[in-house]
Amino acid sequence: MHGDFLSTAGLSRDELESLIESALRFKSGTDQSKPLAAKSVALVFFNPSLRTRASMQIGVYELGGNAVVLEPGGTSWTLEHREGAVMDGDKTEHVAEFVRVLGRYGVAIGVRTFAALKNWDEERTDPILNAFAKYSDVPIINLESAMHHPCQAMADMMTVREKLGSGRKRVLLTWAWHPKPLPMAVPNSFALAAAQMGHDLLIAQPKGYELDDELISETRKHAGAAGGSVTVLNDIDEAFDGAEVVYAKSWGSRKFYGATEKDIAERAQYRSQWIVDEGKMARTNSAIFMHCLPVRRNVIVTDGVIDSPSSVVIDEAENRLHVQKAILKELIH
Ligand code: CP
Repeated sequence: MHGDFLSTAGLSRDELESLIESALRFKSGTDQSKPLAAKSVALVFFNPSLRTRASMQIGVYELGGNAVVLEPGGTSWTLEHREGAVMDGDKTEHVAEFVRVLGRYGVAIGVRTFAALKNWDEERTDPILNAFAKYSDVPIINLESAMHHPCQAMADMMTVREKLGSGRKRVLLTWAWHPKPLPMAVPNSFALAAAQMGHDLLIAQPKGYELDDELISETRKHAGAAGGSVTVLNDIDEAFDGAEVVYAKSWGSRKFYGATEKDIAERAQYRSQWIVDEGKMARTNSAIFMHCLPVRRNVIVTDGVIDSPSSVVIDEAENRLHVQKAILKELIH
């Protein structure tokens, strides 16, 4: 692995396996190396976070380094990312200077920049993340952009490996009702990484809530190359049959992108049915329940499921720490 860590798409199966092995060594304590000794990493958060922020800050510290957290528009200046912008509005600093200055202080920059859920054609190209990558002289780590959350996906794949062993699994990614539309980065990255790891991926979602066409096409290609498969279903109950992993997530409809109220009205019909509950979990092959968190209890998943022994959400969150240490070690050596 070299350069930036923006998505898992550019990594080979061997590289993904190697990151998971490295993360498992950090978790078991067999790797206590300090590749960031006397080095600093900047962590830039345009959006809120618990897991990503805490696990990155602590991970950098455990690797011997120092993390500097910046929040553009809060603890640092408001940021412009568009090329050629005439900056006579509310943006004070351009990404061009911001990242090159940070690159003089530290060895890597992590950035979180969510989809604004306003303009799909623009946001699917990850303009802010790519501006960071374009101007930076040091590696950029994607801490969740409009399209991808690769650190989460790596922790997810590590958790599947840890709980179920290596090999092909029947993995269900299911949409769930949520009171408002959410970004697609987590389901995109989960689907992609599951396919890259050769799993049999089922994506269950109501009609009109399809993931990005190009992402699905890329996911199918990876699944084919890795010996897995991708199936898309619109029937949530049938989707649970025989699943070994149930991964719940809500996301917004591309059809109603930029029209939040329309999406909210459309999704209302799915409220009672599109929830992970005990009845659906009983149809699985003793599946583990996964979610990236934060999760709305009794909306996305019932208390009975998230509090059951099949729920691995806390281990999954813990694995963010170990896998990000593996990513940092690989990028900075
Ligand atoms: N899963 C995840 O990225 O959590 P945070 O949004 O709290 O960082």
